[in-house]
Amino acid sequence: MAPIASSMIRCSFHLLNVCLAAVLVTVAVYHTTDNRSSTFRSVTKIRIESVIERRIDDSVNDVSVNGSRVDSVVSSCDLFSGKWVYDNKSYPLYKDRECGFMFDDLACEKYGRKDLEYQRWRWQPHGCDLPRFDAKSFLERLRGKRLVFVGDSVNRNQWVSMVCLVESSIPKALKYMLLKGSLYTFKATEYNASIDFYWAPMLVESNNDNSSHHASSNRIVKIGAIQKHATQWGDADVLVFNSYLWWIIPKLKVLKGSFEDPYPVYKEVKMLQCYKMALKTWSAWLETHVNRTKTQLFFVSNSATHSRADEWGMPKDQNCFSETKPILKEEYWGSGSDTKMMQIAEAEISKLKSRGLKIQMLNITQLSEYRKDGHPSIYRKQWRPLSKEKLSDPRNYADCTHWCLPGVPDVWNELLFTYIIHH
Ligand SMILES: *[C@@H]1O[C@H](CO)[C@@H](O)[C@H](O)[C@H]1NC(C)=O
Ligand SMILES: *[C@@H]1O[C@H](CO)[C@@H](O)[C@H](O)[C@H]1NC(C)=O
Ligand SMILES: *[C@@H]1O[C@H](CO)[C@@H](O)[C@H](O)[C@H]1NC(C)=O
Ligand SMILES: *[C@@H]1O[C@H](CO)[C@@H](O)[C@H](O)[C@H]1NC(C)=O
Ligand SMILES: *[C@@H]1O[C@H](CO)[C@@H](O)[C@H](O)[C@H]1NC(C)=O
Ligand SMILES: *[C@@H]1O[C@H](CO)[C@@H](O)[C@H](O)[C@H]1NC(C)=O
Ligand SMILES: *[C@@H]1O[C@H](CO)[C@@H](O)[C@H](O)[C@H]1NC(C)=O
Repeated sequence: MAPIASSMIRCSFHLLNVCLAAVLVTVAVYHTTDNRSSTFRSVTKIRIESVIERRIDDSVNDVSVNGSRVDSVVSSCDLFSGKWVYDNKSYPLYKDRECGFMFDDLACEKYGRKDLEYQRWRWQPHGCDLPRFDAKSFLERLRGKRLVFVGDSVNRNQWVSMVCLVESSIPKALKYMLLKGSLYTFKATEYNASIDFYWAPMLVESNNDNSSHHASSNRIVKIGAIQKHATQWGDADVLVFNSYLWWIIPKLKVLKGSFEDPYPVYKEVKMLQCYKMALKTWSAWLETHVNRTKTQLFFVSNSATHSRADEWGMPKDQNCFSETKPILKEEYWGSGSDTKMMQIAEAEISKLKSRGLKIQMLNITQLSEYRKDGHPSIYRKQWRPLSKEKLSDPRNYADCTHWCLPGVPDVWNELLFTYIIHH
């Protein structure tokens, strides 16, 4: 069934580490008491479970959930406004070492992190409870379908989390991962369900489109071109986009013509303007190509970075390294989250909505802002050897952009799960 091409690397679960070492040279961007109603929670649970049972019994393909409680969670509650509550009973949702598809740049426990409290926080929206992630019902919902995460390494982080959330409920012989160029596929064969990641950090074509080799300092975008990427994800049933970090430089070069031109012509464009143009290209593609009855669309707002500890009251020269607790100050907001960029994305999304295309923003910025404790810092695989100078002080090479797994992205996926099941 699967086409055999020499460039294709098929990884079974036990070969995964070898495959990753071969393929993922670098995929990362570097810069450098509780008010919940327990009645409501248990009702939610029962509803979801009964839906799953019914689905399994009837082996129905129509998985539109008749869980009115999930509906009311989604329709009556701002899921993104809330607080983190320590909960070592329900979390983590899986174990670092037990996820057969974990990526080494996110495996903090494996790479020596000793404080593990960061794995044990639950997101508590102010107005309701988040339904707990349920792998079986999620896979059932994805039966015969394809879910694709499209974006940068933070989106890949969320994809790995999603794979880890579902994989433990699938027997070894019935799952595999395939990494081919910019397209990473996780397949649950019994369900004929794919959970994919496609590397396109700027959504439109750019000189950073090679997932294992990118030129980070000189950024060139072909601002009107998305078709080449879209052919890789255009048929998906669920699409989860993000794009943020790769835009954070003052100006970018906009390419006229093709990347292959021997004498390429560029125009320098200010970042915000450029971001807006790229998102317009993206939304125009969706508007004309997406099958509105089939495809569910999401845009994930930017996640938070914690590179400047003075923003949360620590000395200026520190960062996320050695942080072990979330920020408790309500509405804490770091300088890494550009509200102007968020507004551009929000405006584009509401324009799409007004044209009848349903697209849900996963507004994870605020909830991620609180989690200065959730980053790998130095507890991850380094894709390149570190210089002596860097090694001399852990703060020099701490990754305060990505997130340890299990951890914060699991909650982004609980939010995604809620919306997908609700659909
Ligand atoms: C708890 O929730 C109830 C009803 O949802 C609300 O009336 C009350 O103000 C909330 N209390 C706090 C402390 O948030
Ligand atoms: C949904 O549930 C209600 C009552 O709980 C029931 O009347 C209705 O038939 C159900 N709809 C579907 C599609 O199962
Ligand atoms: C959970 O946390 C509480 C309070 O910190 C502690 O007393 C308890 O032993 C912990 N339980 C587990 C299973 O870690
Ligand atoms: C498997 O799912 C894909 C969509 O991802 C669909 O095109 C295909 O027809 C499905 N195959 C079977 C045998 O159901
Ligand atoms: C990506 O870059 C690597 C390393 O430079 C190279 O081997 C590979 O062919 C490139 N892939 C594509 C699709 O251009
Ligand atoms: C859109 O998707 C629906 C449901 O999968 C399908 O029945 C319909 O034929 C599709 N429409 C087009 C124009 O492809
Ligand atoms: C997303 O969250 C931020 C911070 O809480 C808020 O300012 C913004 O209005 C929200 N955006 C949407 C579209 O809900």
